[in-house]
Amino acid sequence: MAKPKRRYICAACGSVTHRWQGQCADCGEWNTLAEEAPETVFSAKHDLSAGGRAIKFEALDAPGEKLVRRSTGLAEFDRALGGGLVPGSAVLMGGDPGIGKSTLLLQAAAAVAKAGANAVYISGEEAAAQVRMRAERLGLGDAPILLAAATSVRDILTTLAGMPVPSLLVIDSIQTMHSDQIEGAPGTVSQVRASAFELIRYAKENGVALVLVGHVTKDGSIAGPRVLEHMVDVVMSFEGERSHQYRILRSIKNRFGPVDEIGVFAMEGQGLAEVGNPSMLFLSGRDQPVAGSAVFPAIEGTRPVLVEIQALIVRLASGATPRRAVVGWDSGRLAMLLAVLEARCGLSFSSAEVYLNVAGGYRLADPAADLAVAAALISALADKPLPADAVWFGEVSLAGEIRPVAHGGIRLRESAKLGFARAFGPSDLPVKQDGTKFTPLALLPNLVDRIMGGA
Ligand code: TYD
Ligand code: MG
Repeated sequence: MAKPKRRYICAACGSVTHRWQGQCADCGEWNTLAEEAPETVFSAKHDLSAGGRAIKFEALDAPGEKLVRRSTGLAEFDRALGGGLVPGSAVLMGGDPGIGKSTLLLQAAAAVAKAGANAVYISGEEAAAQVRMRAERLGLGDAPILLAAATSVRDILTTLAGMPVPSLLVIDSIQTMHSDQIEGAPGTVSQVRASAFELIRYAKENGVALVLVGHVTKDGSIAGPRVLEHMVDVVMSFEGERSHQYRILRSIKNRFGPVDEIGVFAMEGQGLAEVGNPSMLFLSGRDQPVAGSAVFPAIEGTRPVLVEIQALIVRLASGATPRRAVVGWDSGRLAMLLAVLEARCGLSFSSAEVYLNVAGGYRLADPAADLAVAAALISALADKPLPADAVWFGEVSLAGEIRPVAHGGIRLRESAKLGFARAFGPSDLPVKQDGTKFTPLALLPNLVDRIMGGA
């Protein structure tokens, strides 16, 4: 029999090579290749068309079990999940270290336990005493959570098999779990995969809502194989800047609900507080208008959120290559917008450094931000403050047109509610709007004229 070939798997992207290398040839990460046992290969001659059990086909409209959901006790968490936890499902929660994953899940477990259901919290990262200390700090010291520090999946599943089935099982984190079915240290691709597989099987068979905490790599993806994302029903990411107070919980994949709803929290001295009405959070609340600042009415899922976009332009005297730095927005999109402003409006940014920042540590993904970014850039370039009571939204095309965007009505209503008396947006919206003076703009040069002429 041929000697099985050595196999090295990249912990970042999951690609397989047969020779060890310092850098993964596929994703370029360093020191991520680890040797793993080869998988058993069955003979190709093996006939699979006999010997199995017959499977049963079902009609799509057959009366099935209704999807019952269990509240996490945190409305914002439920909202991001699409209405709560589904029994017999698995959620993978990713996020930077220190962002608040353990805090959020401890709070959810406490709420579930206080509601009279069993909530099990297994920590592989911290000692039970540490978790207890955090619970006390959160004012949850009396919540009847079943808490344990463990890393062996066999120990965990053996223990769970001998007790009433919990409603919620939190594993913090999947990278610390170890299955004795597989060789290798915790955190390696096959360990993560095997541990997750066993835990998910337990959850599905017993109708338990399972939440796995997953570490993220430098580029923000969940460490370990991509297969982990395929194995679970819901992938969530807990985001925010550690230096800022606000945290956003997003689902990236959800087999049971929409993926565009977010949950908003504030990290406070006593844990995460829910922010039920986040529309004003990301405004900096300045009294004096400053050049380069524009307010954008963003939409997250179904909720409007007003965000402040700040641009700074620094003219360079020498011929040095000017910097472009972006926080909270796509740098490719900024380059495009600068090119359109140069080509269609005759503005020159080529000898200037451009800095763009979205206030409050917020990350914008809404394409309607183009117009507000353009307004901030023009305002910064001309050193003319925009009117303090104005909001800007619309997508900009390469031809310099201001394109229609979704939810124009909601954006206008929320802006009016928060006291913004003027709005500038795409020309498909009716000029007559309640509570707001709306100015439709068809082309980017119209925006330049407006701002240069004092909006
Ligand atoms: P944690 O939940 O441990 O983060 P993660 O599990 O994602 O790594 O949260 C860590 C940070 O949150 C820590 O730096 C301190 C801060 N924090 C508060 O500000 N208030 C609190 O009540 C708690 C428990 C933590
Ligand atoms: Mg943690």
